[in-house]
Amino acid sequence: MKKNIGFLHSKKYKHEPITVLTCYDYPTACMQDEAGIDIVFVGDSVGTNILGYKSEMEVTMADMLHHLKAVHRGVTNAYLLIDMPYAADRNAKQAVANANLFLDNGADGVKLEGGTEKVPIVTALTEQGIEVCAHIGHNPQIHGTKAATHGKTVSKAKELVQTAVALAGAGAKLIVLEKITEEVSQIITGTLDIPTIGIGAGRYCDGQVLVINDVLGMGTLFKHAKRYQDYDHLTFEAISQYIYDVENGDFPRDENVSHIAPDKLARVQKWLESER
Ligand code: KIV
Repeated sequence: MKKNIGFLHSKKYKHEPITVLTCYDYPTACMQDEAGIDIVFVGDSVGTNILGYKSEMEVTMADMLHHLKAVHRGVTNAYLLIDMPYAADRNAKQAVANANLFLDNGADGVKLEGGTEKVPIVTALTEQGIEVCAHIGHNPQIHGTKAATHGKTVSKAKELVQTAVALAGAGAKLIVLEKITEEVSQIITGTLDIPTIGIGAGRYCDGQVLVINDVLGMGTLFKHAKRYQDYDHLTFEAISQYIYDVENGDFPRDENVSHIAPDKLARVQKWLESER
């Protein structure tokens, strides 16, 4: 059954954790969906994790659409969320047009980064019936790739709570809390009616999101993440073994090749001789 925003909200009220992973391609989308993930999320982290960009700020609408289309082909049940890339939501008109482009290509909702300055954008999207996920705390599009923890001082804690309330009041249906102290995330989760999805925000959010590369063991291991696979090591070993096998004549083997029947081969050879 297709998971919708009502289903995600019901999980908050039943105290059932919401599961979210970033996803950038078709085969991974198929696996996440089959495994029963709640939200498949095409994050703008595709830029640094897949496209080799230095920062999220380089990611374009065209990049996001390309990856959304691939992911959408693999999703049947999960809620499909996508990031508005850098500068794609500068004003309400532009944000609505870009969000509609995503919805037309399979997204169920859009996520955007930022604080109270994004309230008018969230309002405009919501008025058009577009489901919005807000994103506060560390915002890579604003703060860059180096993530500091937010919510360590009284004033910052208050500001985060007020910002979350303002974004939810503007109509946000979900909110990502990134790199926020566990205590402040817990306060926000208890204050809002909408689900909070944490990344580096502790144990008391309504759901958790991780970057799929971190889960699989690709690249750097971050404090907030957990490795469930050793992709880098396994992939390097597989590639090295393939190179070794080809160089040493151990691949392909007879089981990997196709044959022509001996009588037909004899006729081909006879024909070749007659052509000489
Ligand atoms: O793009 C991304 O990976 C994110 C994280 C919060 C998961 O926005």
